[in-house]
Amino acid sequence: MKKNLLITGGAGFVGSNLAVFLNGRFADYRVVCLDNMQRRGTQLNAARLKDHGIRLIKGDVTNPKHLARLGRVDLIVDCAAEPSVLASRQEPFKAIQSNLIGTFNCLELARRSPADFIFLSTSRVYPVAALEEIPWEELPTRYDWKKDASGTGYSYEGITQQFPLNGVRSLYGATKLCSEHLIMEYLDMYKLRGVINRFGIIAGPWQWGKEDQGVVGFWVARHKYKGSLSYIGYGGTGKQVRDALHIDDVCELVLLEIEQMERVDRQLFNIGGGRKNSFSLYELTKQVSAITKVAMPLTAVAETRPHDLRIYIADNSLITKHTGWAPRRSLENILSETSRWIDGHFQKLAPFLSDFKKGA
Ligand SMILES: NC(=O)c1ccc[n+]([C@@H]2O[C@H](COP(=O)([O-])OP(=O)(O)OC[C@H]3O[C@@H](n4cnc5c(N)ncnc54)[C@H](O)[C@@H]3O)[C@@H](O)[C@H]2O)c1
Repeated sequence: MKKNLLITGGAGFVGSNLAVFLNGRFADYRVVCLDNMQRRGTQLNAARLKDHGIRLIKGDVTNPKHLARLGRVDLIVDCAAEPSVLASRQEPFKAIQSNLIGTFNCLELARRSPADFIFLSTSRVYPVAALEEIPWEELPTRYDWKKDASGTGYSYEGITQQFPLNGVRSLYGATKLCSEHLIMEYLDMYKLRGVINRFGIIAGPWQWGKEDQGVVGFWVARHKYKGSLSYIGYGGTGKQVRDALHIDDVCELVLLEIEQMERVDRQLFNIGGGRKNSFSLYELTKQVSAITKVAMPLTAVAETRPHDLRIYIADNSLITKHTGWAPRRSLENILSETSRWIDGHFQKLAPFLSDFKKGA
């Protein structure tokens, strides 16, 4: 009999891409997706899953009965979450339910089954004030850490998993960090296998980016559909920096973790595009403009939002050391593929990508 590979949040950006990528890769696994279909765009992702013959069950991870109905599973990739810092601030109950209680319910399913557990955590677990204290300088097109910056858990190359965790990080980050703690306890108590991945920005086709979550996709979509764009925070210069990881690099990593679970079991990794795939919003605008051939007027909002970060770049050295994995795709790949994806379905995607104010 085939084993069950459950992807929670399976109609979301990461979950649906993973499902399509993993489906059929293992002769002995059947991919099953579960999603409450709350996020905007999940209908289109659901249609894509159907086209690939992947089973999608409408269900909520906050409801243990919905998970119990699935019966025994052999592997859980937990991608169900409210992934926005802003939305978690506006609706703390929902964020705690989906991000923390949801993961707890998934762990219970893993315990009963038993199942291996792969968790999509976030760089947002790191405290804001400590990140902001890393010595930085202002360059013509971006802020950057000083080349000689170095301390516990950081260097010019990026943030490692040794970065201190004391301090405030946003409710979103707190729910994910609490989930990480629960996972480690469950792995230990019930002799399960699992791995935690702290991702920075993930981007690529099939992402329904919003201003506050999925910024890279949002930037491309705004250029394509000619909506308004602003540099928000840090004086409105657009010099804040992130790194971006292609969704296909995420899929390859998860495949590797499934195949080499013994090697990554009980590990916690920082994962991101890394310095090579870092960009400031200002630089992103230039690159997106060149690819889409659209020059957008940008407005500036000087005031910085709560929990925003001046610079975040992941240091991938631990995962590379453990598995050999490193990002293979560039920011240019991400932007041009996202742009082509929109071109290929321009009318169909318009209701989901051209008005970001309405819907989740
Ligand atoms: N996209 C990124 O840049 C990024 C970065 C770091 C970490 N992550 C993590 O990766 C995971 C996937 O993120 P994503 O970008 O695909 O987000 P997404 O919003 O596209 O996908 C999440 C999915 O979970 C579903 N969902 C939410 N609450 C649920 C619930 N209670 N029950 C069932 N389904 C529920 C949503 O409908 C959505 O389809 C999340 O855990 C997120 O924290 C994402």
